[in-house]
Amino acid sequence: MTRGRFIALEGGEGTGKSTQAQLLAEALERRGLTVEVTREPGGTPGAEAIRSLLLHPPGEGWGAEAEALLFAAARADHVARRIRPALKAGRWIVCDRFVDSSRAYQGKAGGLGEQAIVALHQIGSHGLRPDLTLLIEVDEQTALHRIAARDGGGADAIGGRDPAYHRKVAQAFRSFAEADPAGFALIDGSGDPAQVHQRILRAIERLIS
Ligand code: TYD
Repeated sequence: MTRGRFIALEGGEGTGKSTQAQLLAEALERRGLTVEVTREPGGTPGAEAIRSLLLHPPGEGWGAEAEALLFAAARADHVARRIRPALKAGRWIVCDRFVDSSRAYQGKAGGLGEQAIVALHQIGSHGLRPDLTLLIEVDEQTALHRIAARDGGGADAIGGRDPAYHRKVAQAFRSFAEADPAGFALIDGSGDPAQVHQRILRAIERLIS
Protein backbone atom coordinates (compact mmCIF):
# COMPACT_ATOMS: atom_id res chain seq x y z
CA MET A 1 0.00 0.00 0.00
CA THR A 2 1.56 3.32 -0.98
CA ARG A 3 1.10 6.14 1.45
CA GLY A 4 -1.50 8.73 0.52
CA ARG A 5 -0.59 12.35 -0.08
CA PHE A 6 -1.35 15.25 2.19
CA ILE A 7 -2.36 18.56 0.59
CA ALA A 8 -3.11 21.62 2.71
CA LEU A 9 -4.82 24.79 1.52
CA GLU A 10 -3.78 27.96 3.26
CA GLY A 11 -4.52 31.66 2.97
CA GLY A 12 -6.38 34.42 4.73
CA GLU A 13 -10.13 34.75 5.13
CA GLY A 14 -12.16 34.99 1.92
CA THR A 15 -9.53 33.43 -0.33
CA GLY A 16 -11.83 30.57 -1.39
CA LYS A 17 -10.05 27.66 0.31
CA SER A 18 -13.16 25.65 1.21
CA THR A 19 -14.61 25.82 -2.31
CA GLN A 20 -11.26 24.87 -3.79
CA ALA A 21 -10.77 21.99 -1.35
CA GLN A 22 -14.04 20.44 -2.57
CA LEU A 23 -13.24 20.95 -6.25
CA LEU A 24 -9.76 19.50 -5.80
CA ALA A 25 -11.04 16.41 -3.99
CA GLU A 26 -13.59 15.75 -6.74
CA ALA A 27 -10.89 16.07 -9.41
CA LEU A 28 -8.59 13.66 -7.57
CA GLU A 29 -11.42 11.17 -7.14
CA ARG A 30 -12.08 11.29 -10.87
CA ARG A 31 -8.48 10.11 -11.23
CA GLY A 32 -9.29 7.07 -9.13
CA LEU A 33 -7.84 8.27 -5.83
CA THR A 34 -9.61 7.97 -2.50
CA VAL A 35 -9.75 11.38 -0.90
CA GLU A 36 -10.84 12.80 2.43
CA VAL A 37 -11.59 16.50 2.73
CA THR A 38 -11.11 17.87 6.19
CA ARG A 39 -10.50 21.18 7.93
CA GLU A 40 -8.80 22.89 10.84
CA PRO A 41 -9.57 23.62 13.48
CA GLY A 42 -11.70 20.50 13.38
CA GLY A 43 -11.86 17.22 11.50
CA THR A 44 -12.53 14.91 14.48
CA PRO A 45 -15.25 15.12 17.15
CA GLY A 46 -12.74 16.37 19.73
CA ALA A 47 -11.16 18.91 17.43
CA GLU A 48 -14.59 20.16 16.30
CA ALA A 49 -15.48 20.72 19.97
CA ILE A 50 -12.27 22.73 20.40
CA ARG A 51 -13.16 24.64 17.22
CA SER A 52 -16.32 26.04 18.76
CA LEU A 53 -14.36 27.06 21.87
CA LEU A 54 -11.87 28.89 19.67
CA LEU A 55 -14.24 30.63 17.28
CA HIS A 56 -16.91 31.42 19.87
CA PRO A 57 -14.95 31.73 23.10
CA PRO A 58 -16.75 31.71 26.43
CA GLY A 59 -16.24 34.64 28.79
CA GLU A 60 -13.65 37.23 27.91
CA GLY A 61 -11.94 35.13 25.24
CA TRP A 62 -8.56 33.34 25.17
CA GLY A 63 -5.16 34.81 25.79
CA ALA A 64 -2.61 34.34 23.00
CA GLU A 65 -0.93 31.37 24.70
CA ALA A 66 -4.15 29.52 25.49
CA GLU A 67 -5.37 30.10 21.93
CA ALA A 68 -2.20 28.63 20.44
CA LEU A 69 -2.36 25.63 22.77
CA LEU A 70 -5.99 24.96 21.84
CA PHE A 71 -5.16 25.03 18.12
CA ALA A 72 -2.24 22.67 18.75
CA ALA A 73 -4.44 20.35 20.82
CA ALA A 74 -7.13 20.23 18.14
CA ARG A 75 -4.45 19.51 15.54
CA ALA A 76 -2.87 16.74 17.63
CA ASP A 77 -6.18 14.90 17.77
CA HIS A 78 -6.86 15.46 14.07
CA VAL A 79 -3.41 14.23 13.06
CA ALA A 80 -3.40 11.17 15.32
CA ARG A 81 -6.96 10.02 14.79
CA ARG A 82 -7.64 11.00 11.21
CA ILE A 83 -4.79 12.29 9.06
CA ARG A 84 -2.05 9.76 9.84
CA PRO A 85 -4.39 6.72 9.65
CA ALA A 86 -5.79 7.91 6.31
CA LEU A 87 -2.35 8.48 4.80
CA LYS A 88 -1.17 5.10 6.05
CA ALA A 89 -4.17 3.44 4.40
CA GLY A 90 -3.30 5.10 1.08
CA ARG A 91 -5.99 7.77 1.15
CA TRP A 92 -5.29 11.36 0.15
CA ILE A 93 -6.04 14.19 2.55
CA VAL A 94 -7.14 17.62 1.39
CA CYS A 95 -7.10 19.86 4.43
CA ASP A 96 -8.58 23.35 4.66
CA ARG A 97 -5.85 25.02 6.80
CA PHE A 98 -3.08 23.31 8.79
CA VAL A 99 -0.12 24.29 10.97
CA ASP A 100 0.93 27.22 8.79
CA SER A 101 -2.29 28.93 9.87
CA SER A 102 -1.00 28.71 13.44
CA ARG A 103 2.43 29.96 12.35
CA ALA A 104 0.79 32.94 10.57
CA TYR A 105 -2.10 33.83 12.93
CA GLN A 106 -0.80 32.93 16.39
CA GLY A 107 2.93 33.01 15.67
CA LYS A 108 3.35 36.11 13.51
CA ALA A 109 0.18 38.22 13.74
CA GLY A 110 -0.55 37.15 17.34
CA GLY A 111 3.03 37.81 18.45
CA LEU A 112 3.90 34.44 20.01
CA GLY A 113 6.71 33.86 17.55
CA GLU A 114 7.14 31.12 15.03
CA GLN A 115 9.48 29.01 17.14
CA ALA A 116 6.86 28.57 19.84
CA ILE A 117 4.32 27.32 17.29
CA VAL A 118 6.80 24.95 15.70
CA ALA A 119 7.66 23.60 19.17
CA LEU A 120 3.98 23.02 19.98
CA HIS A 121 3.51 21.26 16.65
CA GLN A 122 6.49 19.05 17.37
CA ILE A 123 5.00 17.99 20.70
CA GLY A 124 1.40 17.68 19.50
CA SER A 125 1.77 16.22 16.03
CA HIS A 126 5.42 15.11 15.78
CA GLY A 127 6.00 17.91 13.32
CA LEU A 128 3.89 16.46 10.49
CA ARG A 129 4.10 18.60 7.32
CA PRO A 130 1.88 18.40 4.24
CA ASP A 131 3.43 17.03 1.06
CA LEU A 132 2.30 20.24 -0.60
CA THR A 133 0.71 23.43 0.68
CA LEU A 134 -1.36 25.49 -1.75
CA LEU A 135 -1.25 29.11 -0.68
CA ILE A 136 -4.23 30.92 -2.20
CA GLU A 137 -3.79 34.66 -2.40
CA VAL A 138 -6.28 37.41 -3.24
CA ASP A 139 -5.96 41.16 -2.83
CA GLU A 140 -7.41 42.73 0.30
CA GLN A 141 -10.43 44.28 -1.44
CA THR A 142 -11.48 41.00 -3.04
CA ALA A 143 -11.14 39.21 0.29
CA LEU A 144 -13.26 41.85 2.07
CA HIS A 145 -16.01 41.55 -0.54
CA ARG A 146 -16.08 37.76 -0.31
CA ILE A 147 -16.13 37.82 3.50
CA ALA A 148 -19.00 40.33 3.56
CA ALA A 149 -20.98 38.14 1.13
CA ARG A 150 -20.31 35.01 3.20
CA ASP A 151 -20.51 36.21 6.82
CA GLY A 152 -22.75 39.22 6.41
CA GLY A 153 -20.77 41.03 9.12
CA GLY A 154 -21.08 38.16 11.63
CA ALA A 155 -17.42 37.17 11.71
CA ASP A 156 -16.00 34.78 14.35
CA ALA A 157 -13.51 35.72 17.09
CA ILE A 158 -10.48 35.43 14.83
CA GLY A 159 -11.94 36.42 11.46
CA GLY A 160 -13.25 39.60 13.09
CA ARG A 161 -9.79 40.88 14.13
CA ASP A 162 -8.64 44.19 12.66
CA PRO A 163 -7.25 44.63 9.13
CA ALA A 164 -3.68 45.15 10.42
CA TYR A 165 -3.79 41.67 11.99
CA HIS A 166 -5.01 40.10 8.74
CA ARG A 167 -2.39 41.99 6.74
CA LYS A 168 0.31 40.48 8.96
CA VAL A 169 -1.22 37.04 8.40
CA ALA A 170 -1.07 37.48 4.62
CA GLN A 171 2.55 38.68 4.76
CA ALA A 172 3.49 35.75 6.98
CA PHE A 173 1.99 33.21 4.59
CA ARG A 174 3.88 34.80 1.70
CA SER A 175 7.16 34.63 3.62
CA PHE A 176 6.64 30.92 4.42
CA ALA A 177 6.04 30.15 0.75
CA GLU A 178 9.10 32.09 -0.33
CA ALA A 179 11.27 30.29 2.22
CA ASP A 180 10.12 26.83 1.07
CA PRO A 181 9.40 26.78 -2.69
CA ALA A 182 9.43 22.97 -2.81
CA GLY A 183 6.77 22.70 -0.12
CA PHE A 184 4.44 25.43 -1.40
CA ALA A 185 2.63 26.40 -4.56
CA LEU A 186 1.43 29.99 -4.79
CA ILE A 187 -2.07 30.15 -6.29
CA ASP A 188 -3.62 33.30 -7.67
CA GLY A 189 -7.11 33.23 -6.11
CA SER A 190 -8.62 35.94 -8.30
CA GLY A 191 -11.31 35.21 -10.88
CA ASP A 192 -14.04 32.62 -10.72
CA PRO A 193 -13.73 29.31 -8.86
CA ALA A 194 -13.26 27.30 -12.07
CA GLN A 195 -10.26 29.41 -13.08
CA VAL A 196 -8.64 29.05 -9.66
CA HIS A 197 -9.30 25.29 -9.77
CA GLN A 198 -7.38 25.03 -13.07
CA ARG A 199 -4.41 26.78 -11.47
CA ILE A 200 -4.53 24.32 -8.58
CA LEU A 201 -4.66 21.32 -10.91
CA ARG A 202 -1.50 22.54 -12.62
CA ALA A 203 0.19 22.98 -9.26
CA ILE A 204 -0.57 19.48 -8.00
CA GLU A 205 0.73 17.72 -11.11
CA ARG A 206 4.05 17.40 -9.32
CA LEU A 207 2.42 15.10 -6.74
CA ILE A 208 0.63 12.88 -9.22
CA SER A 209 3.25 12.02 -11.81
P1 TYD B 1 -12.87 29.25 9.28
O1 TYD B 1 -14.28 29.71 9.30
O2 TYD B 1 -12.58 27.82 8.98
O3 TYD B 1 -11.96 30.18 8.42
P2 TYD B 1 -12.00 30.59 6.90
O4 TYD B 1 -13.24 30.00 6.29
O5 TYD B 1 -11.98 32.06 6.94
O6 TYD B 1 -10.74 30.01 6.36
O7 TYD B 1 -12.30 29.64 10.72
C1 TYD B 1 -11.04 29.36 11.08
C2 TYD B 1 -10.46 30.57 11.75
O8 TYD B 1 -9.43 30.15 12.63
C3 TYD B 1 -9.82 31.55 10.77
O9 TYD B 1 -10.05 32.88 11.20
C4 TYD B 1 -8.35 31.26 10.91
C5 TYD B 1 -8.21 30.79 12.31
N1 TYD B 1 -7.11 29.85 12.55
C6 TYD B 1 -6.04 30.24 13.34
O10 TYD B 1 -6.01 31.38 13.83
N2 TYD B 1 -5.03 29.36 13.60
C7 TYD B 1 -5.04 28.08 13.11
O11 TYD B 1 -4.11 27.29 13.37
C8 TYD B 1 -6.15 27.68 12.28
C9 TYD B 1 -6.20 26.29 11.72
C10 TYD B 1 -7.16 28.60 12.03
